[in-house]
Amino acid sequence: MKGLILAGGSGRRLRPITHKTAKQLVPIANKPILHYVIEDLVGVGITDLGIVVGDTAKEIEESVGNGSQWNADITYIHQEEPLGLAHAVLISEPFLGQEKFIMYLGDNMFEDSLHAVVEDFENSSTNARLLLAKVDNPQAFGVAEVDEQGVIKGLVEKPENPKSDLALVGVYLFDSTIHRAVKAIEPSDRGELEITDAIQWMIDEENSIGHKTLEGWWIDTGKKDPLLLCNELILEKIETLLLSQIGETVTLKGEIVTGKNVEIIDSNIQGPVVIGSGVRIERSDIGPYVSIGDECKIEDSSVERSVLMEKSYISGVTQLTKSVLGRKVEIDGKESEVQGSTSLMLGDGTKVNLKNG
Ligand code: TTP
Repeated sequence: MKGLILAGGSGRRLRPITHKTAKQLVPIANKPILHYVIEDLVGVGITDLGIVVGDTAKEIEESVGNGSQWNADITYIHQEEPLGLAHAVLISEPFLGQEKFIMYLGDNMFEDSLHAVVEDFENSSTNARLLLAKVDNPQAFGVAEVDEQGVIKGLVEKPENPKSDLALVGVYLFDSTIHRAVKAIEPSDRGELEITDAIQWMIDEENSIGHKTLEGWWIDTGKKDPLLLCNELILEKIETLLLSQIGETVTLKGEIVTGKNVEIIDSNIQGPVVIGSGVRIERSDIGPYVSIGDECKIEDSSVERSVLMEKSYISGVTQLTKSVLGRKVEIDGKESEVQGSTSLMLGDGTKVNLKNG
């Protein structure tokens, strides 16, 4: 079985981070989301991987390379415009051939292992298998209508009056029937070839579509709050590993991971927290749930529930919370009159002086 990872798209909902960074490369606990996706697939024995890339192809190729670090073979498939998930399948046919494959959205993360679902599909004669998750707001998702026998009757993209609370999540398993489906459908009102329409075509043509409801969490990290929640869920699983010596003026509580050449002075770290290499922290309270990229510098500040990418500099910010900071961001909170907490989402290279608002 092959794997098809979708890592193109426009990432509008994660701007300004995605002005300069591919959303699939945003780090969770200091590791790009896309690397978790690759590990997940390789972990179930799928090593022949195609990655659909768009405008951010260069950055993605630099981060993933030829896949040798995971013993995987990676083929990059260039999509000129983000014309929809079914369009991504359409252009990937030369790579996929007639083989069964698993399609994985490159900005999605899951708790459940894919092992059983992949094995079942490989040994079955169903034409597709969908993963579903119960959600509170089905209006925001592709929703499956499942009858009393558990058979999927239909799919609707973002329905006003959803017939169930079962959303399609970002992993799909297909046999080669999908190639006929993606050629048969027309673009939707938003101009995209929708994967839900392609699957609906398969249902209408009486193909068999299996499904499984997830037990663990599933997160589409394409927006700030789910991204931060994902950071928290992954940090929950870390175990302390300190690759730098921490001085006596520092209090460490909970699980903490640090890289090399980390210097922490007169500070409190409340895990779970991951700190990259070359980070310097002075007179600050860090945590819980903070991921700090390599070579960040934090002084006279408190930071919780946030993701900081590499080389950011935070000084005098009294309560930075629920923030996502790109690379080389600078926040100067000295002499600021900001009361209470500050929550920010800033793209690479942004400079903010809280004193001036
Ligand atoms: P989405 O999050 O549905 O779309 P998007 O990336 O355009 O984001 P936004 O709506 O915020 O602008 O895409 C899911 C995944 O699939 C994501 O990793 C991007 C990828 N994708 C493609 O590779 N090609 C496409 O044509 C589309 C629409 C998405």
